[in-house]
Amino acid sequence: MSLAVQIRQHGGPEELHLADVTVGEPGPGEIRIRHHAIGLNYIDVYHRTGLYPLSMPATIGMEAAGVVEAVGEGVTHLKVGDRAAYASQPPGSYCELRVMPAKCVCKLPDAISFETGAAMMLKGLTAQYLLKKTLPVQGLVAGDHVLFHAAAGGVGLIASQWAKALGLKLIGTAGTDAKCQLALANGAAHAINYNTEDFAARVKEITGGQGVKVVYDSVGKDTWDKSLECLRPFGLMASFGNASGPVPPFAPGALGAKGSLYVTRQTLFTHIATRESTQAMADDLFAVVASGQVKIHIDQRYPLAQVQQAHRDLEARKTTGCTILTL
Ligand SMILES: NC(=O)c1ccc[n+]([C@@H]2O[C@H](COP(=O)([O-])OP(=O)(O)OC[C@H]3O[C@@H](n4cnc5c(N)ncnc54)[C@H](OP(=O)(O)O)[C@@H]3O)[C@@H](O)[C@H]2O)c1
Repeated sequence: MSLAVQIRQHGGPEELHLADVTVGEPGPGEIRIRHHAIGLNYIDVYHRTGLYPLSMPATIGMEAAGVVEAVGEGVTHLKVGDRAAYASQPPGSYCELRVMPAKCVCKLPDAISFETGAAMMLKGLTAQYLLKKTLPVQGLVAGDHVLFHAAAGGVGLIASQWAKALGLKLIGTAGTDAKCQLALANGAAHAINYNTEDFAARVKEITGGQGVKVVYDSVGKDTWDKSLECLRPFGLMASFGNASGPVPPFAPGALGAKGSLYVTRQTLFTHIATRESTQAMADDLFAVVASGQVKIHIDQRYPLAQVQQAHRDLEARKTTGCTILTL
């Protein structure tokens, strides 16, 4: 038997319960992994509340690091005893031990700790595909401005540092002045407190009236309209989350009026659909972390048994950087 956090119905943090579960043997293409640390992500909130519905009972969580205990038929890139980390479907990482598909699980380089691996896989691979694959038609070159919302959060602090390493001028938004300072200390060229300032007006000011080539928007409902105002003609609105609620339906005509804008809604799981793409992206992430250009800030740690509090703090916007659940 081993411990897992289960929900029996969608709802608030109080629906997260520790349960004893039996974990079997891996089938073809699967591994069994014993976790050493688990990553907390905003998608875990969507799974818990039912914004992204799951069948019940469900163990949520998409990110962790640990040691491979057993390997199923046909798995060649991992062996028993390997240190490994992942961002992966299906949900189920809030546990001590699990059986899961092997294709998104990567060997963890010796220089990267279990805690860092657990904190960075989902958030770091997301920053990777946003900054390197989710580009405007004109591309991005050093010196270009981009706008990145929630820049002091898990994905945000990684993206701020990585954007700087790429020579981009990232304008970060955050909900407090302290979070703005954190974004600035981690590579953001400018930071705007979107609770006290008109971020569209400030973006226009910073870019000399031109606007940015890309807005990376994971806040959703609250920032959507103003984000469109921040784009230059032919700019790209890259929506990738709904921390404030889903974006309501909109009329495409508005995109023409605002300068022939492009809109995309991206999800990591399309980018890591194959073993090859997962490994290529992970290698890029491992390299930028190993070089020290991107530091993984684990600003909160909660024992697995305190997962309810972890969810409360994440939703109350009390966290910065990455959060892990410890075992
Ligand atoms: N599509 C994908 O592939 C993908 C992958 C990973 C993450 N994401 C999305 O990226 C976002 C960041 O994920 P994360 O795990 O790193 O979380 P996070 O950024 O650490 O936490 C979410 C942040 O969103 C901001 N926020 C704005 N309005 C909010 C509201 N009404 N309620 C709660 N938070 C609000 C808060 O920062 P401020 O206080 O500074 O506003 C909060 O700290 C999430 O929306 C997540 O779903 C998408």
